[in-house]
Amino acid sequence: MIYSRIAGTGSYLPEQIVSNADLEKLVDTTDEWIASRTGIRERRKAAEGETTGDLAFHASTRALEAAGVAASEIELIVLGTTTPDIIFPSTACLLQHRLGANGCAAFDVNAACSGFMYALGVADQFVRSGQVKKALVVGAETLTRMLDYSDRSTCVLFGDGAGAVVLEASSEPGILTTRLHADGGYKHLLYNPVGVSAGFRHDEPNAGVRVMMTGNEVFKVAVKTLDRMVGETLNAAGMAEKDVDWLIPHQANLRIIEATAKRLKLPMERVIVTVDRHGNTSSGSVPLALDEAVRSGKVQRGQNLLLEAFGGGFTWASALLRY
Ligand code: COA
Repeated sequence: MIYSRIAGTGSYLPEQIVSNADLEKLVDTTDEWIASRTGIRERRKAAEGETTGDLAFHASTRALEAAGVAASEIELIVLGTTTPDIIFPSTACLLQHRLGANGCAAFDVNAACSGFMYALGVADQFVRSGQVKKALVVGAETLTRMLDYSDRSTCVLFGDGAGAVVLEASSEPGILTTRLHADGGYKHLLYNPVGVSAGFRHDEPNAGVRVMMTGNEVFKVAVKTLDRMVGETLNAAGMAEKDVDWLIPHQANLRIIEATAKRLKLPMERVIVTVDRHGNTSSGSVPLALDEAVRSGKVQRGQNLLLEAFGGGFTWASALLRY
């Protein structure tokens, strides 16, 4: 039996920090409102000219180094993003060339905030099937590029960042299960209306290139859906709540994270939280949290990790793995 296991992790955050106090100067909001409703205190913002591909490159270089794997050994790159550098080539192709991994398969996955989890699920199948032995899986975003800094309901939530993992074929687990889901019927609650085929300019009032979100509705569906997915993931791996050592969740809102932890009967000390410092980095959030947990020494080899994400689409996905 072939498993894919995480051989190394890496992440990268842009330098500029945007605090809640900075946002108080732009919109009618307060540090108190943002912190109490979301748990966010600050987030990062990419510099002018700094792209998703740049963040992905730095995160990937660190993951390759941690894994002790050369870029030329990588046979597959799957990159989750909803903010690609350009329409085409894919950010995965741009990254591949910059890393010097030319020739291997490389493609982007757009599953909004579940992008990294989808990318991990796809890459896991390639490794399990024996088609590739080493894969690079990335989640990278510059969400601040599509924020409207006059809309307080969205601009306080998101930040920029990237994370990456190197997957390696192994006879030992490894990723035990990945679960990927979507329901396009929820498009109206969370979307960006601008696109190539629908038109670069949109005639919806106040649309523009921006995140359109009915936050409180998204919140309710996210909590319910993640609750369901936790059960499904444990069942698929033949595990119970007590077998999970760490929850590494998507970092959108501390209250959503707490609800999932409660479902898992895990104390918050067993949950990796970065939302306070990173905000919601969409596809970047889970691998950023994972890398932080690994580098800080919290997550140890042999422990069981539950990773999950929920985002626009709606999409939702999880992985249960032995690190
Ligand atoms: N500062 C101050 N007030 C704000 C605000 C801000 N930044 N943003 C919204 N408000 C106001 C609203 O206008 C509303 O005012 P009203 O009662 O006078 O109409 C009030 O706060 C409550 O708004 P509501 O949207 O019901 O708040 P909430 O408790 O649901 O929190 C979110 C809003 C967005 C933080 C929360 O719903 C959330 O996190 N949703 C999920 C978002 C998410 O996960 N998205 C990505 C999925 S990957």
